[in-house]
Amino acid sequence: MKSAPQTGVLTIRRPDDWHVHLRDGAVMEGVVGYTARQFARAIVMPNLSPPVTTTALAAQYRERILGAVPKGRGFTPLMTAYLTDSTDAEDLVRGHAEGVLTAAKLYPANATTNSAHGVTDIRKLEPIFERMAEIGMPLLVHGEVTEDHIDVFDREAEFIERILAPLVERRPGLKVVFEHITTSQAVEFVNSTNENVAATITPQHLHINRNAMLVGGIRPHAYCLPVAKREQHRLALRDAATSGSAKYFLGTDSAPHAREDKESACGCAGIFNAPFAIESYAAVFEEEGALDKFEAFASINGPRFYGLPVNEEKITLEKIQHEVCGEVDANGTAIVPFHAGETLGWRLAG
Ligand code: NCD
Ligand code: ZN
Repeated sequence: MKSAPQTGVLTIRRPDDWHVHLRDGAVMEGVVGYTARQFARAIVMPNLSPPVTTTALAAQYRERILGAVPKGRGFTPLMTAYLTDSTDAEDLVRGHAEGVLTAAKLYPANATTNSAHGVTDIRKLEPIFERMAEIGMPLLVHGEVTEDHIDVFDREAEFIERILAPLVERRPGLKVVFEHITTSQAVEFVNSTNENVAATITPQHLHINRNAMLVGGIRPHAYCLPVAKREQHRLALRDAATSGSAKYFLGTDSAPHAREDKESACGCAGIFNAPFAIESYAAVFEEEGALDKFEAFASINGPRFYGLPVNEEKITLEKIQHEVCGEVDANGTAIVPFHAGETLGWRLAG
């Protein structure tokens, strides 16, 4: 680790979150303020139950989110449609043209929370990918194969080889975000492909390896999908995020679940990192001696990839040690945040 300044402030353009789960109903009303406090915009995942599969459903969901944003926060939810075997390409194109849909999300069937409606055979979506490439609509990919016989720690690497690399080869004009990458294979793949392929990286995959989940007892709050991998992979992700490459940008994958749904014999996948996401990333960039690359990762590479303007507003992080609380109340639901009980060295001002 390189040495870090002991005092100071860090001012950057207001960042965006290019991958977040806001849920719906009371929990959404309880969590949206955490994201809106930090980020100007966020790509909102469509894996509600039932999922957000059409322009009309996305428009309604967007209204519900906007209705729950605390007053005075200029926050723009960017909506996504959940692709299924029966997605209507014309509806996607219309939704994109009307400014309702920013992107479309590919979940392989049963890959993760609420993905039972996901795509069973990616080849069925070829006509949709063709239209998306024509209109410049990004495809957001949960990159894991789902077959029972594939080890959970190998599912991302298998997905690259069997699904993603051939897709990118077939459709070099399609913008693809390889989401929440967790492996050195993903970094190698993203680095080696054309400029239409980018990736998001979560705070948790930069901070923890699989030991955090499994050593000294089973720790459900460190469990998310894709699951954290070996240390060598975490180090590859840290190199990628702090490299200055425009292909990598911030996507928290903040995924709130009630405490009792995580602390269970069959605990849900997902880490709620929204309360201190920007601080969590700042710690990584500081530890890597790369604070000069932080603004590009957090606030510039994402909008550039999506063809959107960068935010003009600024945020300031102060170098103040603070302890993360053990639990957050999301409108009546208790949720354990990422870094609960740990001390973070930066704090968002205001
Ligand atoms: C997400 C969720 O809970 O919705 N969980 C997770 O572990 N990341 C789903 C997802 O993005 O895979
Ligand atoms: Zn996610």
